[in-house]
Amino acid sequence: MARILAVGTATLDLIFTVARYPGEDAEVRAEGLRISPGGNAANTLVVLSQLGHACAFGGVLADSPEAASILERLARYHIDLTACRRVCGRPPTSSVLLSLKGGSRTIVHYRDLPEYTDEDFRRIDLTPFGWIHLETRDGLQTGRMIRRLRESRPDLSYSVEIEKPRPGIEAVFADATLLIFSRAYVGHCGFDAPQSFLLRMREQAPKADLVLPWGDEGAYGLDRWGTMHHSPAYPPVEVKDTLGAGDTFNAALIDACLKGLGLAEALSHACRLAGKKCGQIGLEGLGDKTCST
Ligand code: FRU
Repeated sequence: MARILAVGTATLDLIFTVARYPGEDAEVRAEGLRISPGGNAANTLVVLSQLGHACAFGGVLADSPEAASILERLARYHIDLTACRRVCGRPPTSSVLLSLKGGSRTIVHYRDLPEYTDEDFRRIDLTPFGWIHLETRDGLQTGRMIRRLRESRPDLSYSVEIEKPRPGIEAVFADATLLIFSRAYVGHCGFDAPQSFLLRMREQAPKADLVLPWGDEGAYGLDRWGTMHHSPAYPPVEVKDTLGAGDTFNAALIDACLKGLGLAEALSHACRLAGKKCGQIGLEGLGDKTCST
């Protein structure tokens, strides 16, 4: 199994389950509260580790008592933290409203920690890794990280998650192996149809497989040879928790690519695992490998 480095965030999530999404200025009673570690890159690694991969995290970690559960989860899944920068402060925190009626997860995120930078990334010995996954938080920094990757390990495959518009983000498209876009980013670019968006992105990313999860319609992908693929969604009998479904999708996609599956099969694998995740609370038990307690 490959050694995977993911660069991005590890957060603390305060997850309130509500009967339905409240209106502004409403006062409602939550049906449940769960406090759980999260963060896109950290979540993706937690799933990849359960799929049998050796994982490492590159991010900024808060050194404070509130961050204990974040560190505990990363340790439980044997995620190597050598590449992390530790700073004093509060962990990035999200307040999440999970609506039982609509199945939506609304996130209010707060962060006062500095971002992981190109300087941090430069200190990593990339020799042991077989795949790098980057959550784009700052387009310019991510662009520099990729330049370094290209210089020191031109053979290495890497994926980039493009969730939000960030200045300079297009610079990361040119050389990537796999680009995973979000529906929000498609809207920001002025598109509403997944296929036309992917075809436009192809002009900027000639070498990459391009992937776009599309909610209850599943996911679309345009492979590097120009073939468009689609997988349906695999919704569970009962939707219990959609938080982290996208991060699970990304993990399954990377896993499939590392196993040499084509994009059509990879999309289906990713939609199935994301569907399974939506049918359960949290990210435990999504692969064969369980964490050690
Ligand atoms: C879910 C998630 C949460 C986190 C938020 C950060 O995808 O990673 O765990 O709070 O997104 O934006």
